[in-house]
Amino acid sequence: MEVIILKDAKSVAMTGAELVGQLLRLQPAAVLGFATGSTQLLLYRCLIEKCRAGDISFRRVTGFNLDEYLGVAADNPQSYRSYMDREFFDHIDIDGDNTHLPCCEDGQNPRLVGSAYEEKINKAGGIDLQLAGIGANGHIGFNEPGSSLGSRTRVKTLTRQTLEDNSRLFCTDEFQPRLAITMGIATIMAARRVLLLATGTGKAEAVSRMVEGPVSAMCPASILQMHERATVLLDEKAASRLKNKDYYDWAYLQNESLKDRFGD
Ligand code: GLP
Repeated sequence: MEVIILKDAKSVAMTGAELVGQLLRLQPAAVLGFATGSTQLLLYRCLIEKCRAGDISFRRVTGFNLDEYLGVAADNPQSYRSYMDREFFDHIDIDGDNTHLPCCEDGQNPRLVGSAYEEKINKAGGIDLQLAGIGANGHIGFNEPGSSLGSRTRVKTLTRQTLEDNSRLFCTDEFQPRLAITMGIATIMAARRVLLLATGTGKAEAVSRMVEGPVSAMCPASILQMHERATVLLDEKAASRLKNKDYYDWAYLQNESLKDRFGD
C-alpha cells in the first residue's frame, strides 16, 4: 500500500486527477471504477478541468460505479446515478452508454442485478483503476464492517453510523435508503489499481485502522493492505493519527525518484 500524505484536500484532488490523467494518456480506453461521496467532488472538478483543457479525454472510457442505493429511482436527485451525471459525466466527453451503476429498478431481483453487474465488468476486461473513498466506520463502497472479504456485488444493509453520517445529504422529510447494492470487497480487490482518497479529521481514525490496523472485515478498507497496487492519498488531517507518517513521506520521495528513472 502506497500512502501519500499531502497538504490539503485540494492537493489530494489534484494529485488524484494527475494519476487518473497519466493512466488515460497511456490507455485511452481504460475501464475506470468511479466512487461517490463528498471527498470525490474536488477530484471530479479537477478531472473536468483537465478534460476541458484538452489534457485528457474520456471518450473511450468505460465506467463502473462502486454502488447505488436500492429503492431510489435513477432519476431521483438522491441516486448515485444523478450524482454522477450532475457532478461529473455531464461535464466530460464520456459516452453515457458506457457509464454503469448497479441500478436495480423496481421489481428487478437485486441478486440478479449484482451478478449481471459482475459479468458486465468482466466483459469489459476488468477495472484498470478503481477510485474509492472511506466511510468513518472503515467501509469501502457500501461494504459495511463485517462484510465478507470475498464478497461480490450484492445488497448490503447500511449501518446506523453510515445512515447518520449521510443524513446531512437528505432533508428531514425525505426518504433515506437503508439498503444499497455495492461492488463486493473481492470485486474491488480485482481492480488492477485502487486509488483511495480521504480528507479531513473525521476520517483520521478510519484511515489509521485501514493503513496500520490488522486486516479485518471489521474495517473493510483494511483489505487494501493486501492489494498489489493500492495508493492512498491523504491530506494532513486524515493522516493525523498515523504512526508511521515519516516513513510514508520518505518512501514517497524514493518512489518518485524511481518513477523518474524507470517510469511508473
Ligand atoms: C458513501 C459511499 C462511499 C464513500 C463514503 C464516504 O457511503 N458509498 O463510497 O466512500 O460515503 O463519503 P464522503 O466522501 O462523503 O465522506
